[in-house]
Amino acid sequence: MSEIKLKDKIFELFISDNEINDIISQMANNINDAVLKNPLFIAVLNGSFLFASDIMRKINLENAEISFIKLASYLGTESTGEVKELIGINHDISGRNIVVLEDIIDTGNTLEQIVSLLKSQNVNQIKIATLLFKPKAYTKNIDIDYIGKEIPNDFVVGYGLDYDQIGRNLAHIYKLKK
Ligand code: IMP
Ligand code: MG
Repeated sequence: MSEIKLKDKIFELFISDNEINDIISQMANNINDAVLKNPLFIAVLNGSFLFASDIMRKINLENAEISFIKLASYLGTESTGEVKELIGINHDISGRNIVVLEDIIDTGNTLEQIVSLLKSQNVNQIKIATLLFKPKAYTKNIDIDYIGKEIPNDFVVGYGLDYDQIGRNLAHIYKLKK
């Protein structure tokens, strides 16, 4: 199907499942070439659940591990304002070689928070892998080591990405029709 309707919006086919598969194979090759020792892949939920499961099947680094995290916000009890917390990592990750798996990096706000929370746990090395990247929206200086595909500032859904929580299960990636 080249067009789909999700709630009130029409989306058109943008990146097919075949192309996604090729992109991920290429990314996995590049990560495998980096020869990280006992890497800990950290997939950022919910968006990266399909990306993580597909790329991990193509990773052949020895002693690779995977964990899943979620960035949760809560209101601090004493301080005012939003506090961000990583949930999902309950073991010691100090000294580890981390590969963060993201579905999409837009402004980079989420990435910045994840990187600073990981750094506070004294990891050895942090590599960033994202399936999609919006260079025109990115406002941070953090290097992104592995980029699947650069895309314009269009809103996309499918393959983990949601529009108001729906569309994550779609096999292809669609963009909002203008
Ligand atoms: P950032 O913090 O601005 O980089 O945005 C990251 C988060 O915003 C992603 O993890 C997604 O959840 C969401 N996001 C950004 N762009 C899109 C999009 O085009 N479609 C769906 N979600 C998006
Ligand atoms: Mg996300």
